[in-house]
Amino acid sequence: MTQRTEIKALIAQNCAQQEVLLKGWVRTKRGSKNVAFIALNDGTTLQNAQIVADVELFGEELLKQINTGACISVTGEWVESQGGKQAHELLAKEIEVYGEADPEKYPLQPKRHSLEFLREIAHLRPRTNTFSAIMRVRHLLSFAVHEYFHKNGFVYMHTPIITGSDAEGAGETFRVTTLKPGEKDYSNDFFGKETNLTVSGQLEAELGALALGKVYTFGPTFRAENSNTTRHLSEFWMIEPEVAFNDLTDNMNLAEDFLKYVIDYTLKHGKEDLEFLTQRQLNEEKQKPQNERNELNLIERLEFVLSDDFQRITYTEAIDILRNSKPNKKKKFKYLIEEWGADLQSEHERFLVEKHFKKPVIITDYPAKIKAFYMKLNDDEKTVRGMDILFPGIGEIVGGSQREENYEKLVAATEKVGIDKDEVWWYLDTRKFGTCPHSGFGLGFERLVLFVTGMTNIRDVIAFPRFPGHAEF
Ligand code: 4AD
Ligand code: MG
Repeated sequence: MTQRTEIKALIAQNCAQQEVLLKGWVRTKRGSKNVAFIALNDGTTLQNAQIVADVELFGEELLKQINTGACISVTGEWVESQGGKQAHELLAKEIEVYGEADPEKYPLQPKRHSLEFLREIAHLRPRTNTFSAIMRVRHLLSFAVHEYFHKNGFVYMHTPIITGSDAEGAGETFRVTTLKPGEKDYSNDFFGKETNLTVSGQLEAELGALALGKVYTFGPTFRAENSNTTRHLSEFWMIEPEVAFNDLTDNMNLAEDFLKYVIDYTLKHGKEDLEFLTQRQLNEEKQKPQNERNELNLIERLEFVLSDDFQRITYTEAIDILRNSKPNKKKKFKYLIEEWGADLQSEHERFLVEKHFKKPVIITDYPAKIKAFYMKLNDDEKTVRGMDILFPGIGEIVGGSQREENYEKLVAATEKVGIDKDEVWWYLDTRKFGTCPHSGFGLGFERLVLFVTGMTNIRDVIAFPRFPGHAEF
């Protein structure tokens, strides 16, 4: 029995071989009376292997079963190709059809489909070049995340998915319950209390940091915010490092170093896919008017992020810049910054990054009242040691802060926003027993994948997106 070879490895070897076994899905079949050419893809690479099948040897009956989408296994000889498109091709000796795909019904035809259409067939879209490339880049990024933290001595902590708290205090949680509709007494519920899917692993990660020093989480988080945008999902993956003894500056340094590392890793290891996605994006750009096109292509943009320090400014400085700017000659911002203390809208964030500084921006020291309760209060008692990192084309990609380590101040902050002290007693406890300065941040993983792949809708960078009204697949 010959062992199956993966197409990526086979093409990388770049030499003829006596006997090769390939398995994969048919992208196209074309041919003449005497010979059929089958483009086979096995998901390991964007490149297809060309299979050459003699019509007389295999017979019309078998070849008729081989259409776009079918899954087959082919044994044959890997020889130098006669055609100019590929270096080698497989002269088929044996073919087994694992699964046919009816050409009348198979939704993925060898032509360009819209991203909207592909979202409706998310069970099949990884079979397209675009989505297989995205899925492989996503994998590389996750691997790089673990590698970065592991190399730097962090402990990967699995924080609970079912919790009783709303860490961000935004009230956008999905309830977890076994109560029947109409039943309201949570003491009869499965956990004996009200529970929900987690919106963040931060509070538990803080407990970890105050024992292990450096921890990170990387898990799914859930938010029932009704934000039907290209940047929001109801289920998304978040990476949350938390470090004891780090102040806000250490936190920014960590976030910047980490982001550069994972992007650099993906540039090094995902070249083929990134080149494809760059070309794809260039084709998309051609549809846009000249003045809306990106100056840099995808790979250039990734390299650009690596080459320069992120701009660091305070909220107050950002507001000053925005008050004295217009997004372009004619237009005003849709939301004007009327007063100090207002939250920045995404148009403001994108202006600062894309027009004003033309690089990633870290905004710090936000007004306390627009940020979460756990952020450390500055001496001015008005601002907190929070930070958001804004990326071109994305807006906010990271949110983080130095944490309030003072027990009294933290209790006061919980009371101010109406969080029940008895609900988070365990969190407050850490400020009573061996508290210390510490900091952390959360990176929305899909926003990172969005940036690195150059896609424009977050629903296209996760295999099975969840958003209002959609939980198919
Ligand atoms: O800014 P957020 O809400 O911060 C936190 O959750 C903190 N607990 C993080 C921490 O300090 N450990 O969310 C962090 C990041 C955002 O910057 C954004 O990238 C992403 O999570 N994010 C979302 N991504 C996709 N869909 C959504 N609905 C998102 N909400 C936040
Ligand atoms: Mg945020």
